[in-house]
Amino acid sequence: MDLKLEGKTAIVTGASKGMGLATVRALVGEGVTVVGASRTVTPELAETGAYTVAADLSAPDAPSRVVSEALARLGGTLDLLVNNVGGGDSVPPGAGFLDVDEASWQSTFELNLFAAVRITRAALPALLQARGAIINVSSDAASRPATAPLPYAVAKAALNAFGKGISEELGPQGVRVNTVSPAATRTALWEGEQSFGANVAAAMGMSQRQMIEAMPAQMGMLTGRFIEPEEIADAIVYLASPLASSVHGANWVIDAGVSKTV
Ligand SMILES: NC(=O)c1ccc[n+]([C@@H]2O[C@H](COP(=O)([O-])OP(=O)(O)OC[C@H]3O[C@@H](n4cnc5c(N)ncnc54)[C@H](OP(=O)(O)O)[C@@H]3O)[C@@H](O)[C@H]2O)c1
Repeated sequence: MDLKLEGKTAIVTGASKGMGLATVRALVGEGVTVVGASRTVTPELAETGAYTVAADLSAPDAPSRVVSEALARLGGTLDLLVNNVGGGDSVPPGAGFLDVDEASWQSTFELNLFAAVRITRAALPALLQARGAIINVSSDAASRPATAPLPYAVAKAALNAFGKGISEELGPQGVRVNTVSPAATRTALWEGEQSFGANVAAAMGMSQRQMIEAMPAQMGMLTGRFIEPEEIADAIVYLASPLASSVHGANWVIDAGVSKTV
């Protein structure tokens, strides 16, 4: 299938590993010129041939710097923005509401909501000019808030509302805004040494490998396995393409059937 993305330009946040890296690879594979932003530039990201900008996107001034450096590399045009950066490991599993302090709420919102708001603000003039597309990466936790650290689930629910809200404003101006909501996906977030997954395994009294084997059944994933980051990247790339021209303000849930509601 020709996704008609050849020659387009993109920014992907959280690009050094996981779904962000998979998205960079998929976009580059479609002939897109990509700028990947993350705190570190991993060898895997460097190998994709994408331009890179190192930045801590939870810092308020970082998103506008990323956009201006990206536009300089991309010749001033921007067709696609993938707001992928996020994470929720600042709260230990099982923590109660009163165990979560102000700093954890703040840092979780900076990374999962405000990074997307700020980079969208900075990138919008170029996206409007290109009649481009924005894809936000949320989480199934937004609709099942009791199953995740609460600040993370609440920040992702706010991200869903942000995407839906600006979609209404920007759609008539030619910019499509959509959201992808994965459930458990096999990335460093689960498999990393000092990760959310390591904390979950410790709380369950299991090794990380045992936890990763047990989780899919426990969560009701009908495939019996974690989602692969490439599966999420494929959905993002399709939503970015003109083949999805009539998809506006959608939230594509990719959760292997975890959600049991109609
Ligand atoms: N994995 C899952 O099960 C799952 C499920 C639902 C939703 N999600 C969401 O999917 C998105 C991607 O998750 P993932 O699992 O692919 O995560 P990951 O493997 O942990 O990768 C996170 C990416 O974000 C970058 N990053 C983290 N903090 C950053 C910061 N302050 N500034 C700039 N970059 C930063 C990391 O690079 P550096 O460390 O180099 O900065 C890395 O490239 C996130 O929004 C996450 O909330 C994940």
